[in-house]
Amino acid sequence: MKTRSIRFKTSVLYSSILCVILTGFSLYLFHTVRKILYEETQEDLKVKAGQIEVFLNAYASISPKDNSSASLMNQFLSANGEGIPGQEIINQLWIQDSRSLGLRKDFFQIMNLKGRVILRSENMTHEAERAFNAHFLANNGRVRFTNLRFNKTAFYGISYPVMFSNRSAFILQLATPLTFIQRILSKLTIFIIGGICAVLSMTFFMGAFLTQRILKSVMEVTRVANNISQKNLNMRIQEQELDQEMEQLVASFNRMIERLEQSFTHVNEFSSHVAHELKTPLAIIKNELELALNMGNSKEEYERVTTVTLQEIDRLIKTIKDLLLLAKFEYKLNIFKMEEMDLTKFLKDLYQHCKILAVEKNISFELAIPDRPILIQGDIVHLRRVFFNLIHNAIKFTPPNGEIKIISEVHERQIFVSVKDTGIGIALADQARIFEKFYRIRRIDQEDSGGNGLGLCMARAIARNHGGDINFKSDANKGSIFTVILPVSLD
Ligand SMILES: Nc1ncnc2c1ncn2[C@@H]1O[C@H](COP(=O)(O)OP(=O)(O)O)[C@@H](O)[C@H]1O
Ligand SMILES: [Mg+2]
Repeated sequence: MKTRSIRFKTSVLYSSILCVILTGFSLYLFHTVRKILYEETQEDLKVKAGQIEVFLNAYASISPKDNSSASLMNQFLSANGEGIPGQEIINQLWIQDSRSLGLRKDFFQIMNLKGRVILRSENMTHEAERAFNAHFLANNGRVRFTNLRFNKTAFYGISYPVMFSNRSAFILQLATPLTFIQRILSKLTIFIIGGICAVLSMTFFMGAFLTQRILKSVMEVTRVANNISQKNLNMRIQEQELDQEMEQLVASFNRMIERLEQSFTHVNEFSSHVAHELKTPLAIIKNELELALNMGNSKEEYERVTTVTLQEIDRLIKTIKDLLLLAKFEYKLNIFKMEEMDLTKFLKDLYQHCKILAVEKNISFELAIPDRPILIQGDIVHLRRVFFNLIHNAIKFTPPNGEIKIISEVHERQIFVSVKDTGIGIALADQARIFEKFYRIRRIDQEDSGGNGLGLCMARAIARNHGGDINFKSDANKGSIFTVILPVSLD
C-alpha cells in the first residue's frame, strides 16, 4: 500500500482517531483504578492504625515487674531518655498481636509526643527509619497519608494520632508496601497498551479493506477512462449498484464523455465542412487554369480565367477570415471594443450605405425608426457586420419589386431592430438550421447566392456577445423578419 494512496490515508485517519479516543479512555481508566486502589489502601491503613490504637490502650494496664511505681503507659508517655523498661515484654506481646493484625510486611513505629520512639516493628532498618523521618511530617493531630520509598520498594504510609484517655498521646507511623497495587497497575498498563495496539492494527487493516471496497467504483471509472479513445467515445460507465456519491461522480463523468462525444462529432463535421468549402473554389481555380493551358492563348481567355480565379480567391479569403473571426467570437470574449453609441444614427448611416443595393434590384427600401437617440453599449464595427448581413440577405433573397423595411421598438430596456422583407422566405424544414455554420438553402430555381453560409452564425455570435440575441419569423414565399435584440444603456 502506497503512503500517498487514499486507502493508506483513510486507514491512518481511522486509526489516529481511534488511538486518541482509546488513549483518553485508557488514561481515565488507569487513573480511576489507581485512585480506587489507593483509597482502598488508605482504608486499610486506617483500620490497621485503629487496631494498633486499641492494642496500645490495652497495654495501659500492664505494669513492669521491676518498677511498680508507674504504669507502663505512663512510662511511655514520659519517656525521653535511652531504653524503655518493659520493652521486651511489650515486644513479645506486640509480636503476637501484630501477627494477628496482619502487619508482617508493614513497617511502623510509635512515638510519644516528645518524639521518643517507644515501640517499633522488628523489621525496621536504618534506611526505613531515615525514610520515616524524612517523609512523615510533624503530626498536628490529624490523619495524614504519604508516599515513601526505601529498601528499593515503594510504600504508602499513614501518620495517625493515637488517643489515650481521650487525648492524643502518641503518633503512629505505619507504612505498607505498594507491591500489590504496582503489580495490578503494571498488568493493567500492559493490558491497555497491548489492547490499543491490537485494536489499532485491526482498525488499520479493516479500514484499508473497507476503503478498497468503497474505491472499487473509482478504479472502475479509471479503467473505463483509460479505455476511452476517439474510436469508442460512446463508452459509458454503468451507474447501477454504485454508492450514492459515486453515482453522482459517474453520472457527471458520463455526461462529460457525452459532451466530448458531441464536441468531437461537431469538430469532425465542421472540419469536413471547412475542407469542402475550401476545396470547391480551389477546384474551380484548378479547372480554369487547366482550361487556359489547354485552350488557345487568346487575351480574352486569359482575362476571363484571371477574373474567375481572383473571384474564387476572394471567396476563399473571405471564408477563411470569417472562420477566424467566428473562432475569436467563440473563444475570446475580449475582442469587442464596447463604447456608447447612438443606434438611431448608426442605422441611418447604414441605411444610406445599403440603399443603393436595393435600388439596383428595384426593391423598395424603408427605414421606419423613431427619430430620437437610442444609446447602447456596442462595438460599431461588429454591429455593422450584423445589420449589413441581415440587410444584404434581405436584398439577396427578395425578388425585384419587393419591399424591405427596417423597424425598431424599445421594450423594457431592450431595443428590437427588425429587418423585414417580402422575399422568398424560409421553409419550415430549414428554419432550425439557418444559424449553423456553412448552412445555405440550395434552391433549384436559384443561382448560387455567393454567400458562404457563415453570415447569420456570425451575426448571432456578435449579438450574444453584446448581451442580446437574434431571432426570426419566416413564411416560405411570403417573406422573413429577422430581429436583433440589444440591451439599451441606462440613462
Ligand atoms: N432574408 C432571408 N430570406 C430568405 N432566406 C434567408 C434570409 N436570410 C437568410 N436566409 C437563408 O439562410 C441562409 C444562411 O444565411 P447566411 O448565414 O447569411 O449565409 P449566406 O448569406 O452566406 O448564404 C441563406 O443561405 C439563406 O438560404
Ligand atoms: Mg448572408
